[in-house]
Formats: sequence, C-alpha cells, structure tokens
Amino acid sequence: MNGDSLGLTNLRNQNISSIKSYDPNWRVHASQPVDYDVRIIRELLSPSNSSLAQACGVSDTNQNIRCLVAIDSNVQAFYGERLRTYFEAWRIDTHWVQVSGDEAGKTLEAAMRMTEEMTSMGILRRTEKIIAIGGGVVLDVVGLAASIYRRGTPYVRVPTTLMGQIDAGIGIKTGINFSLYKNRIGTYFAPETVLIDPEFLRTLPHRHVVNGVAEIIKMALIKDAALFDLLEANIADINADNLAEVDSPLEEVLFRSIDGMLDELEPNLWEQGLDRAVDYGHTFSPSLELRADPPLLHGEAVAIDMAICVALAHNRGLLSKVDADRTLRLMQNAGLPITNPMFVASLLEEALDSTVKHRDGLQRVPLTNGIGRAVFANDLTLTELTNALAFISEHQYAYAPETVS
Ligand SMILES: NC(=O)c1ccc[n+]([C@@H]2O[C@H](COP(=O)([O-])OP(=O)(O)OC[C@H]3O[C@@H](n4cnc5c(N)ncnc54)[C@H](O)[C@@H]3O)[C@@H](O)[C@H]2O)c1
Repeated sequence: MNGDSLGLTNLRNQNISSIKSYDPNWRVHASQPVDYDVRIIRELLSPSNSSLAQACGVSDTNQNIRCLVAIDSNVQAFYGERLRTYFEAWRIDTHWVQVSGDEAGKTLEAAMRMTEEMTSMGILRRTEKIIAIGGGVVLDVVGLAASIYRRGTPYVRVPTTLMGQIDAGIGIKTGINFSLYKNRIGTYFAPETVLIDPEFLRTLPHRHVVNGVAEIIKMALIKDAALFDLLEANIADINADNLAEVDSPLEEVLFRSIDGMLDELEPNLWEQGLDRAVDYGHTFSPSLELRADPPLLHGEAVAIDMAICVALAHNRGLLSKVDADRTLRLMQNAGLPITNPMFVASLLEEALDSTVKHRDGLQRVPLTNGIGRAVFANDLTLTELTNALAFISEHQYAYAPETVS
C-alpha cells in the first residue's frame, strides 16, 4: 500500500469536498498609508542641528546608526566635508555613493548601481536608511533604487536644487529615462522625510535657479495669483542668494510653492485622477526635453510648453490679452525660453498623441482661465496648435528680457 491509498487521497478528497461549499472567488483589498514629513530646516548641516541625524534614525535609545549616503557628485564637492563632519559628530556610520546629477545619468544602469551599493553595504531593509542628497535627477534615481531594493528600503530626501525643493523632492514619484522617453520607468514610493535647506541654493548655477523658477511660475499660474504678483514684483532680484536668505521677501516664494504643490499632490498621490493641474506645462515638454539640441533643462522645456498653453488659452478666450502678456513677459524676464526651433506643429501633434496615451485616452490639457485658475481641455485641434505657435512667434520679440543676470 502506498501513502496515497492509505490516507492522503482521502484527506485531499475531504479538503476538496469541504472547499466546495465556499465561493471560489477572492477579492483582496488593502490600502497603504502614506505619512511623511516635508520640512524647511535652516542650518541642516550644523552639528548642533539634530534634524538630519533623527531622519537617519538617531534617537535617545538608538545611537549605533548606519546609513547609505547617496549624493550628487557636484553637491559632494561643495558640501562633502561638512556632511562628513556632521555624521561624525552624530557618530553615524556612513557608506557613501556618488551619483551623477546630470540628466544623461538618469538611467536604469545608475539605479542598478545603487542597488549594488546597498548589497555591498548590507543595508538592513527596515531600520537602515538611504539618505539621497541632490537635485531631481539624483532623487529620482535613488528613489527608484530604494523602491525596488528588497521591494522597498526606507529613504530620506535632501533636495539641493530649487527644482528639487519645490517639486521633484517633495512628492512620491521616482523614475529614470528610457529610450527617448522621460521618466518612462518609475515607481511611486514615498520617502520617510524630506529635509529642505534653502542654503544649498547658494551654490546652484544660475541656469538651474531659473530652471526651478519655471515650476514656480507654473504653480502661480494654476493656483496662486498672489504668488504670481510676488514673482512679477521681484523677478529681477531672484537669484540663489536671495532665495536662500532668511527674511528675504523671496522666502515666501519657496513657502508658497511648496505649500501649493503639496496641496495639489496630497489628495492624488498615486495620480489616480488624471486631470492634474500640476501637469500644466507638461503636455508637450516631455517630447521636446530629450530631443532639443542643444539640450534643454526640464524647467526650460516646461516654460516653452507653458507659453504655448498661454497662447492656446488666450486664443480660446480663456485668458485676457493683458494676462497673456504678463505671463510671457514674466517668463522672459526670469530668463526662460518661450520657444524652440524644434517646437513645430508636427512635434506638438506627436507630443499630444503621446500624452493622450499617458492620460488614459483623453487630452486633459490644463489651461489657465485667468491667472491662478486652471481648466482642462480635451478637444484641442491641430489648427489651434498651429495658431498658438504663430501667436508665440509674433510675441517673443515684444518681450526682450529686461533683467537677466
Ligand atoms: N519625481 C518628480 O516628481 C519630479 C518632478 C520634477 C522634476 N523631476 C525631475 O528632476 C530632474 C531635474 O532636476 P533638477 O532640476 O534638480 O536638476 P539636476 O538634478 O540635474 O541638478 C542640476 C545640476 O545642479 C547640480 N547641483 C545640484 N545641487 C546643487 C547645489 N546645491 N549646488 C551646486 N550644484 C548643484 C547637479 O549636479 C546638476 O549638475 C529631471 O530629470 C526631472 O524629470 C522629477
């Protein structure tokens, strides 16, 4: 007699017969809470400031801390020594990895290299953190690696560019570019904490400051008319130093931008709703950004896209001539481009097709219906795109930058 004939068959039959009385369909339901802090912290690297140490896990009861510091190589050059002094002061054992902060380095290989570093450190998947320090590129690459390593390893973001501090660093998206496509591969993975020190901006090259200003103008256009006025009144003075200064009138610019962005992101963190006002300026720009020659920064491509949207809104009667003029003037006075030789009707059409796929079959193009307000268009035509291009080319010379330092 074998085992089956002894009893296992019976047991199996028994199980099957008892299961028969159950519904053989299951529905699994769970939701994942997201809970992270975004904080502006001055003097983050001062050894007397405990914020970064706490984010690394230092507490009264836990002082043998290790963490993996993934840092933008340019940021390392400026702040590496101060960071080492800081971690030593808090007796944090660090494993350092330098990551390229350039868009060309936003690759799958870079994310995989990060995961190899996590293996070589032997990072503990629940208690030891990755501290990502850098601009949007580094935060996106390291965030992606953190999200896939052992299906999720905690990380902290320390954004060091204006774009990072008001946009890339404060949401939950991660990603890398793939083929000719921006952010084609990515995840949603919340950091544990985001620590923003405006002091980092002091060493940021001016072109990257202007790049961040593009996203601030976006925020003003879609939801914050007071921010628009503030920018308009101060655009000639906006530079890295006065954005970083305490009690500067521009301190409010950072605050309002972060506040507005989080207000938009929080109710729709996983982008289940695809009518997203924060996508303003992000309809045509993804197709332009990686193809333009010479290359454009993210914010510059967004500005060119925003200009077209200003023209589209004006031509549809949504935005007055005065407000269209104010917006184009503000962008150019900030030092942003509003057009590009590659930005022709065929590219706009192709970009819109690609965006429609990304937005699940509808255009969902945010347009301003007055400064500080947004509506969505689903019926833009090729003729409108062509007319908008003509509007921009007629207007670009009328607004020669007044003050660009
Ligand atoms: N995940 C998101 O939600 C999100 C949102 C917006 C943008 N992004 C992405 O962010 C990227 C752009 O990020 P970015 O504008 O921060 O540029 P970036 O990360 O390329 O950094 C710009 C340059 O500044 C250097 N740098 C960074 N901090 C510095 C500092 N304090 N001092 C001196 N130099 C410094 C970097 O090494 C780099 O050369 C794009 O790839 C874009 O797709 C992501």
